[in-house]
Amino acid sequence: MRTSRISGLLLSAVAFSAPGFAQETADAVAPEGASEGQVQALTEEVIASLEAKAAGVPIESENWMVAAANPLAVEAGAKVLRAGGSAADAMVAVQVVLGLVEPQSSGLGGGAFLIWYDAVSGQLITLDGRETAPLAATPTLFQDENGEPLKFFDAVVGGLSVGTPGTPALLEEAHRRWGRSPWPGLFTDGIRLADEGFLVSPRLASLVENDAERLSRFPVTAEYFLPGGAPLQQGHRLMNPDYAETLRVLAADGAAGFYGGEIASGIVSTVRTAPDNPGVLSGTDLALYQVIEREPVCAAYRAYEVCGMGPPSSGALTVGQILGMLSTYDLSGMGPESVEAWRLIGEASRLAFADRGRYMADSDFVPMPTTGLVDPDYLSERAVLLNAEAALTEVAPGNPEFDHASNWADDVSLELPSTSHISIVDGYGNVLSMTTTIENGFGSRLMTSGFLLNNELTDFSFKTHQGGVPIANRLEPGKRPRSSMSPTIVMQDGAPVLAIGSPGGSRIIGYVAKSIIAWADWGMDVQQAVSLPHLVNRFGTYDVELETVAEGYADALIGIGFEVNPRDLTSGLHAIEIGENLSGGADPRREGIALGE
Ligand code: GLY
Repeated sequence: MRTSRISGLLLSAVAFSAPGFAQETADAVAPEGASEGQVQALTEEVIASLEAKAAGVPIESENWMVAAANPLAVEAGAKVLRAGGSAADAMVAVQVVLGLVEPQSSGLGGGAFLIWYDAVSGQLITLDGRETAPLAATPTLFQDENGEPLKFFDAVVGGLSVGTPGTPALLEEAHRRWGRSPWPGLFTDGIRLADEGFLVSPRLASLVENDAERLSRFPVTAEYFLPGGAPLQQGHRLMNPDYAETLRVLAADGAAGFYGGEIASGIVSTVRTAPDNPGVLSGTDLALYQVIEREPVCAAYRAYEVCGMGPPSSGALTVGQILGMLSTYDLSGMGPESVEAWRLIGEASRLAFADRGRYMADSDFVPMPTTGLVDPDYLSERAVLLNAEAALTEVAPGNPEFDHASNWADDVSLELPSTSHISIVDGYGNVLSMTTTIENGFGSRLMTSGFLLNNELTDFSFKTHQGGVPIANRLEPGKRPRSSMSPTIVMQDGAPVLAIGSPGGSRIIGYVAKSIIAWADWGMDVQQAVSLPHLVNRFGTYDVELETVAEGYADALIGIGFEVNPRDLTSGLHAIEIGENLSGGADPRREGIALGE
């Protein structure tokens, strides 16, 4: 039984959600800034949900719930659920609207991972809709003529970084397996909003402004985001007839209309003729794309099984490692204000990230110790390293049980924050948690048929080897880049109790792990857990969330040997707790809401 620990840290989380608080200037390193204000014509239920979020109170419902990053997308999903649709149906409606109103984060030109709890069979299923490297891509794609890694944004912007999109195939596959509503109707709101226009949100406007130079490099992209040469302004009614047409094709022909025909040839020619930085994606790559069903990865934590997406995502393994190592420590007794609790969380995270950098990649291409990495005995062994009083001076990968010889060098890929998360529970008891992305904010900045193309290939390591030793996450033709996306369903006694996930690059892992700890150990409700200020450690430096009480931990953390970096930490957590009723929380750092009935 969870007991509630309302703390000073939490009270600051509630203050965090006050309108206008903690506005960040989005920059090249954090292209997904925080949100300020709302200008969309809002319905009463949306206003109520935004007010609840600002007050730090979860949304409660009896039958169904949807939480995602934009009110228009959430409303589209709510409409489907209200009409008796399944969580898979609602997800399709949410995703096609997100691709319009939050185009910088996810869309048809990107990829996604989904975990599904099936109420009839009681099973968890994960679907991998990750982008693939083109068959013509070589491992040195992101190296210059001297074999040196390209600068990150030189690789990102243009055709070189574009992987084969997976999201349209994932939407179709989820609907084929679990849909109850006719497919074409799921596109109605997306088509209407694209035809009639939607009001540009403050968040989108500020992100366009901050990225104006890169968006201006390609005429089609510039015309849409910088009409007449000036960045879109908040409140501007933006129409996207090309996107409406693309949705009509998808509604009529399914994913085949995307992976073949004019949309596909538009993608290929946009990538291959991108000025300065053309890519190698081909019609064959698109025609061959497949969604893959994979075994969920689950790790025990307290009374729960925390389940999510295995390779090529590092999400569930790294979240599972962090929680598994912390299992032997009494975080509940310490509480969220304890520096010792944050020392343990930060160090567990560093150890998990060391394993992530060494071992995690697309296991269809490289052997991986997937089971060994979350084996409770291995994690107990690793947890002994946490038994210290100061920050560890050295953190190295461990030796999980592995039935294969391996000799990998540590990965050197950079993953910046972007992406979007959708959590849905339907009226039949099915649960969906899906994280969806085009990678960097605005992806490759290339646009075709009304949507942006991803830059997912830059999630691969730019180097193939270190000191002659191969890197597991090196680029290979057909391979899927390692991800940090962590769509999660927490189970208790065989039943789902929490759906959660977040954007945020490789910090996704820390955001999700911290929120699960806040909920499971500190008794916070879902809104409190997602609002709780962030303290995140991946590679040694402790990131503490700027202008929140998390900053107040800096001196104590420095005192025990950590480097500390106060900074904006723009997660986008969306969570639903499943108990007698449903309880939804949306991240105050972005524009999303939860709706339910
Ligand atoms: N590109 C973000 C991720 O896959 O983690």
